[in-house]
Amino acid sequence: MTYKLGDIVTIGDCTLYCGDCLDILPTLGTVSVVVTDPPYGMNFQSNRCKDGPSFDRLIGDMAAPVAWLSVAPDADAIVVFCEWRNAEVFRAAIEAAGWPVRSQLVWDRVIHGMGDLTASFAPCHDLAWWACRPTYKFPGKRPTTVMRYQRVDHDKKVHPTEKPVELLAHIVSRATPQDGIVLDPFIGSGTTGVACVRLGRHFIGIELEPRYFGVAVKRIQDEYDRTALLESPPTRNVESPLPGMEPTA
Ligand SMILES: C[S@@+](CC[C@H](N)C(=O)[O-])C[C@H]1O[C@@H](n2cnc3c(N)ncnc32)[C@H](O)[C@@H]1O
Repeated sequence: MTYKLGDIVTIGDCTLYCGDCLDILPTLGTVSVVVTDPPYGMNFQSNRCKDGPSFDRLIGDMAAPVAWLSVAPDADAIVVFCEWRNAEVFRAAIEAAGWPVRSQLVWDRVIHGMGDLTASFAPCHDLAWWACRPTYKFPGKRPTTVMRYQRVDHDKKVHPTEKPVELLAHIVSRATPQDGIVLDPFIGSGTTGVACVRLGRHFIGIELEPRYFGVAVKRIQDEYDRTALLESPPTRNVESPLPGMEPTA
């Protein structure tokens, strides 16, 4: 199935928009939590052609794209992935948009990447900012700031900057009430949506690139079909993660 800008797909409790989040975000109502992995503004292009798929340059990755924060809908809390070189740009934009930053999160990818082979530490983590309204309270036990989940193998990736589902499920389950609505304005291959289906959360996702939108629709539909086959509906929470969702030891 191919998709085009303007398409809207509904799968269970997920609504997916193929379009520019700058246009779609102002049309949305209040959500519970924004969880997103926007283009980092680092002009990223995968160079893993030998042992994995190669990908085009990501749309919107030429400059730190923070304009969306000023048109994002009201939300109790927000998690925004970034990396050390642009973290302060994102932090300033999150705070300017009205969410006081409360924590810096670290995703330990377990297996390091390449980087400068002679003069930089081998890169093995990404960062994320956690910001919330003063009235926000975690639905369960207070989570810790370091999340250790092995990155997706290059030869299994369907998106150049694909995050592990377990990582997104970790964040969504700890930050969002069971009946909450999660918004991701930059879904890429739909990882946040897959995590939300797995956890039984409502989800709204946006992706500008029709090819990746199609990948996201398929992954979310597959997860929805898989969870529909489970005997009990997916209502698990912080205290009872799904098997296989436990952090890497
Ligand atoms: C860092 S990737 C997200 C990857 C995702 N976390 C995953 O696991 O697949 C960011 C995505 O945002 C999309 N994007 C860039 N600009 C956008 C915009 N203005 N509106 C919606 N999506 C956009 C890109 O096409 C890209 O797929």
